[in-house]
Amino acid sequence: MQIAVIEGDDAAPEAMRPSLEILERLNRHYALGIDWVYPPIGAPAEQEFGSPFPMEAQQIIDAASTTYFGSTSGNASRALFYLRWGKETYANVRPCRYFMGMSSPLSDPTGIDFVVVRENLEDLYLGIEGDLDELRGLNFPQRTRRGALSEIGEGRYAVKAITRHGTERVVRFAFELAQKRAQAAGRVPHVTCTAKYNMLARSDGYFVDIARDLAAEYPDVELDTFIIDDFACRIIAQPKALDVVVMPNLYGDIMSDAAAGLIGGLGLAASGCYGRDYAYFESAHGTAPDIAGQNIINPTATLLSGVMMLNYLGFVRAGESLERAIEATYADGHALTPDQGGTASTTDFCASVSDHLGV
Ligand code: IPM
Ligand code: MG
Repeated sequence: MQIAVIEGDDAAPEAMRPSLEILERLNRHYALGIDWVYPPIGAPAEQEFGSPFPMEAQQIIDAASTTYFGSTSGNASRALFYLRWGKETYANVRPCRYFMGMSSPLSDPTGIDFVVVRENLEDLYLGIEGDLDELRGLNFPQRTRRGALSEIGEGRYAVKAITRHGTERVVRFAFELAQKRAQAAGRVPHVTCTAKYNMLARSDGYFVDIARDLAAEYPDVELDTFIIDDFACRIIAQPKALDVVVMPNLYGDIMSDAAAGLIGGLGLAASGCYGRDYAYFESAHGTAPDIAGQNIINPTATLLSGVMMLNYLGFVRAGESLERAIEATYADGHALTPDQGGTASTTDFCASVSDHLGV
């Protein structure tokens, strides 16, 4: 089995490389049969193949069982677009679980354990923007709230699209994830659906209506709906009440970073993007250019994304062993990176995780 590896930009490779060493240890110990393959990306690919994301890279990604991806600030961004839109990875899963020892700003974060499921392909991420002038010829059924479009002056627009197909599949994904989590924990599955459905009744309202309709097919799952601004307050005031939360793309982008802030910051934010026949795994944070080259980036997000990847591939024992080792590293607190109040380097942290693997 092949896993494509894209190390990413700035400080991301500093988190990816020692994480890969740990995954390779698990690979050997559990005889997982993983071959790591490196698609040609960025400047070297440009030199060899005349493109920063050549066909050869796409073929390696396609042939692999999944892709392990380091954050990008440019070089690998075409790969990111391919992994999302090209591979139709429509459900972006971003767990928010507090481990004892993480540096949360809350006085009592113990027990925070929820998952943001973000629709990953549509909403304002269609990438359709333009000059308002281009719209003036169109005959909108309603006047805008500021008057006729011809009266509101020069400016730009962006298209926000919520489709039935796109919404149904991500909402089903959320319901099914809640069922799996509840079964494992022996409790009632709970889904929260959030969007700005008061102001955007036709688009965000459609997203929430579809969730309400689909709830009838999952009678064991409790469904709550909150308007996104109210939800932003609840995520801080009552994070322990949340289980699985589903929302349109842009809100999910923002709220998943907010969720990471609750437990101790973006260095902890794992992420996996799932489609019908492909998934890929990347940390939710950016490339941290301000600390590039210092060997202090927190690799937890990268490692926990690795846990999600191992589980996706069915390597549950290896995934569990890695997750426990990360937990143990936080619990003993000797090798935490500066963002968690420690003085350890990225490689110290990974050495501690490696020691705790017990393999
Ligand atoms: C994320 C990132 C991306 C997004 C950027 C890099 C395009 O913020 O994965 O959350 O907006 O989806
Ligand atoms: Mg983001």
